[in-house]
Amino acid sequence: MSGRIKQSSLDALLDRADLVEVISGYTSLRQRGVKYTGLCPFHQEKTASFTVDGSKGLYYCFGCGEGGNVFTFLQRMENLSFVEAAEQLAERFSVPLEFDEAGGGAREAHSGERRLLELLEKATAFYQRFLWESKEGSQARDYLLGRGFQRDVCEEYRVGVAPQGWRRLHAKALQQGFREQELEAAGLLVRQPGKTYDRFRGRLMFPLTDHRGRVVGFGGRSIGDESPKYLNSPEGPLYQKGRLLYGLFQARRAIAEVDEVLVVEGYTDVLGLAQAGVRNVVASMGTALTETQLELMTRFTPNVTFMFDADRAGAEAALRSGELARAQGLRPLVVKLPSGQDPADAATEGGAEAVARLTAGKVSILGYELERTLEKNDLTTSAGRVRAFEEVEKVLSRASSRKEREEEIRIIADRLRLSAGSVESLLRGAPGRSRRTATRGRSAGGTVTGSSGAVISPPARGGYEEGLRSPESVVEREFLVAAVSNPGAAVPLVETLTSAHFVDPVHRQVFEGLSAVLVAEDAVESLKGLTRLDSEVGRFFVRLAVETDPAIFTERKLEEQHLRLLELAYLREMAPLRRALEEGTADADAKRRLREKDQRLQQVRELISRMDE
Ligand code: UTP
Ligand code: MN
Repeated sequence: MSGRIKQSSLDALLDRADLVEVISGYTSLRQRGVKYTGLCPFHQEKTASFTVDGSKGLYYCFGCGEGGNVFTFLQRMENLSFVEAAEQLAERFSVPLEFDEAGGGAREAHSGERRLLELLEKATAFYQRFLWESKEGSQARDYLLGRGFQRDVCEEYRVGVAPQGWRRLHAKALQQGFREQELEAAGLLVRQPGKTYDRFRGRLMFPLTDHRGRVVGFGGRSIGDESPKYLNSPEGPLYQKGRLLYGLFQARRAIAEVDEVLVVEGYTDVLGLAQAGVRNVVASMGTALTETQLELMTRFTPNVTFMFDADRAGAEAALRSGELARAQGLRPLVVKLPSGQDPADAATEGGAEAVARLTAGKVSILGYELERTLEKNDLTTSAGRVRAFEEVEKVLSRASSRKEREEEIRIIADRLRLSAGSVESLLRGAPGRSRRTATRGRSAGGTVTGSSGAVISPPARGGYEEGLRSPESVVEREFLVAAVSNPGAAVPLVETLTSAHFVDPVHRQVFEGLSAVLVAEDAVESLKGLTRLDSEVGRFFVRLAVETDPAIFTERKLEEQHLRLLELAYLREMAPLRRALEEGTADADAKRRLREKDQRLQQVRELISRMDE
């Protein structure tokens, strides 16, 4: 932006910039002899370990080790570059900065830029005054208040209104000594053959600032239905939409404090959230977040949360921005809004509480994709279930690490209000396994067999598949499928069973997971949650969900397979006793137990045969 600052200017700055005064803007200092002490603004502390030596122009914190001079202080506090810090100090302490000539035009360009910034600043004040003080501003005032935006927040973000009429700003600016060329260069004037006129007329004006609060452009919203809804400053050397984040200047302290940045789409979303007390918020200004914008915010925090409109564009933006953030090694989160809502609505209607409720439900980008996948597909048809299953697998395979996958599971489980215990058991139930990747192609989803859409044969998979052929395995599996289909009816039945009722090791794990969730508060919700978990058991549940055709896996089916499970278990228990009897080694106790089990077996069989009536 400019050449190097001359050493003489820097020396003058160090001389004049009062470190104690600067630091007092961030923490209150008490004088102790020649030094000052206070609570460290760089870390949380209860006793003062932060010391400022005004005469030397240095500060140091004995608690966290931060230390330096007035430049480093501002750089650290405000996330500024060295030159930015110097410029800010120069302005504050009225020290003219001189630059080493880096090529002839640098100085001139610099002073030209200063003029434009000054013009933009004056225009901002002009629009603001017009909004609050003019009679013509009443329509815009009513509009803002009608949408629930109070004057305070509008003033903080310096919202204004551009007067109707072709050359109102033009007249004012010329009166103040600006030239038409400058108005044009600042994007405030449109020049057409034979005429010039104000670019913004009769619009609500949102000043766009850089992260130092300098106005570099405007977004002008029509107050009625006039098109376009938003008219923005043309891009130029000062203003490039993709290099700014709306609201970053106002939000930067809060972002650093909360250690998280909330990214929304629009100006009004920022206003709404800020008014509701959520101050760590910036807008991408439309849907496509750029890499530069991402870099800008990650100067303050690596924790990025997207809160885009609940429409198709917003969802796609979340996915795209999420990918961008992931590519930079970040772990973005997403807040999902009720459909049709944007953050501004949520905030102005429900206030801080509503926003807190929404943000509490944030999920990772992967989790968000998982939910969308399940929602996108019609889970009442088997074809839809197969597709959902395939897509879920694909999404989860993108998890970059086991850790991420596990966190994924935890976040989703949390979201679905699964008890910690069942999540634990599910995580434990996930033995180390090689992830099947794209090389396996489509096999993960299995195939739909028959047009009845009944049972879908699962993919062949190791030991599990072998067990499938035994009668035990069929009964076990059908019981589990029916239980997932009829969770309400399954609860009392599951309680009569133990792991010993399941021979197949995978089925046994699934049963254990199932009995853990069925005792959770909301069994039906929990079951839905289970189908989203990425563990061996979770996958099995997904597959069960895929295969579950309510027309076949009815409550009756559930009851029948429950009885058959009992039948098979009695037969298994009786086998060694019978053998002992045949070999003549059974004692009286064994004989009694055999009789008892045989009786129960007959009862169960009778119940089964009655089911056919
Ligand atoms: P929205 O259409 O969602 O507008 O665009 P909004 O900010 O929520 O406004 P309200 O609440 O409907 O009044 C989101 C953002 O996209 C950019 C603006 O930055 C806007 O805030 N945008 C949108 C444009 O730059 N130009 C447009 O024509 C539309
Ligand atoms: Mn919007």
